[in-house]
Amino acid sequence: MTMDWIASRQGPLHGTIDIPGDKSVSHRAVMLAAIADGETRIEGFLEGDDTLATAAIFEQLGVRIAMPEAHVRIVHGVGIDGLAASSMPLDCGNAGTAMRLLTGLLAGQRFDSALVGDASLSKRPMRRVTEPLRRMGARIETAEGDMPPLHLYASGKLRAIQHVSDVASAQVKSAILLAALYADGETIVREQPTRDYTERMLAAFGYPIEFAPGSARLTGGHRLRATDVIVPADFSSAAFFIVAASIVPGSELRLRQVGLNPRRIGLLHVLRAMGADIDEEQRCRQGGELVADLLVGHAPLRGIEVPVEHVADMIDEFPALFIAAACADGVTSIRGAAELRVKESDRIASMAKGLRALGLRIDETPDGAAIHGAEMHGGSIDSHGDHRVAMAFAVAAQAASSDLQIKDVANVATSFPDFEAKANSAGMALRLDNPDPT
Ligand code: S3P
Repeated sequence: MTMDWIASRQGPLHGTIDIPGDKSVSHRAVMLAAIADGETRIEGFLEGDDTLATAAIFEQLGVRIAMPEAHVRIVHGVGIDGLAASSMPLDCGNAGTAMRLLTGLLAGQRFDSALVGDASLSKRPMRRVTEPLRRMGARIETAEGDMPPLHLYASGKLRAIQHVSDVASAQVKSAILLAALYADGETIVREQPTRDYTERMLAAFGYPIEFAPGSARLTGGHRLRATDVIVPADFSSAAFFIVAASIVPGSELRLRQVGLNPRRIGLLHVLRAMGADIDEEQRCRQGGELVADLLVGHAPLRGIEVPVEHVADMIDEFPALFIAAACADGVTSIRGAAELRVKESDRIASMAKGLRALGLRIDETPDGAAIHGAEMHGGSIDSHGDHRVAMAFAVAAQAASSDLQIKDVANVATSFPDFEAKANSAGMALRLDNPDPT
């Protein structure tokens, strides 16, 4: 039996919400701390299934990780060559970031590894990382169609490469940079700019690296020095509350100290262009990242053409944007977003199908959609096991004329374990449809 929600329209959203730690930063903090010399303290760590999977994998690889309290980890780094083989497969669960980055990091080790994932991850494309890593000399076997599970074989020292990425993907760039730590010579990655946490964090761990939007270069053979990491609140999780407060009349919500890395806030630009009322207060730097309180009030939204240059900077925010677009006056059109088809679900199809079930007109294209804003009625939605689709429809319910049943929501725990409680405390009405009677 799947875990389902009933989401009801409740009225304005109010109050102050603390959003959990950033998923991308939490994964990378554990990875780099594990291969650094010394002890790293991570604060604000996301206690989500995805990042817990990464931490468990490094424990399997011989790294001691203490948890003095929730959201804090002390990682006892084993040094650049200190990881040890695991006799068991390394289970990435639903986490594409874990699998792709680990493929890079483990490709140059002196031992074999097997990386496995859940049903959704097992259908996600890995060729984008296996192809450049094979060019570096990695020996990787995959299932049919370059899909997981992945078997990585000890390969001796890797070779540096120059890689020009044909997909805008921070995971691809990061996998190559992590492999490059174990390669002879200088590796260069060029790309359409994507989130640069791997580059920033390597620098924070004292690793020599040069980077600018669109390129990164490093030479293998140096060491990482432990450092403390403060994880900012995840903008991608905040996005659901930003849209909810924007679409429900009378709302006024404060989201505290949200990470505003320039490569993550495409949605802010797009929502503001649609007429959203979002202010920033208490701007400051936290562990090198810009953070601010976001104050979001209700505002009438109008449909726009989403500028293609923002797509990579809001790649995880499209499920939330589909809901904002559904509530906007007129048509919102999206293009240049074919990557959405290979996320935790095919997000263009999942969102289009769900919104059609609520009475909306959505014209799908291979790389986007046109969403015709209109009144939404209630109905039953399948999240396709996709955490962000599930949370997006919980937001949609706040503007629908009757209840939504949202099916298969357990994976919300991968990125936002206490979403239900936080949503209810902000004034949304969300409950389990089929609570376990025991
Ligand atoms: C991530 C990169 C993005 C994003 C994912 C996290 C990362 O994936 O969608 O949620 O942490 O590097 P792609 O690299 O596939 O765009």
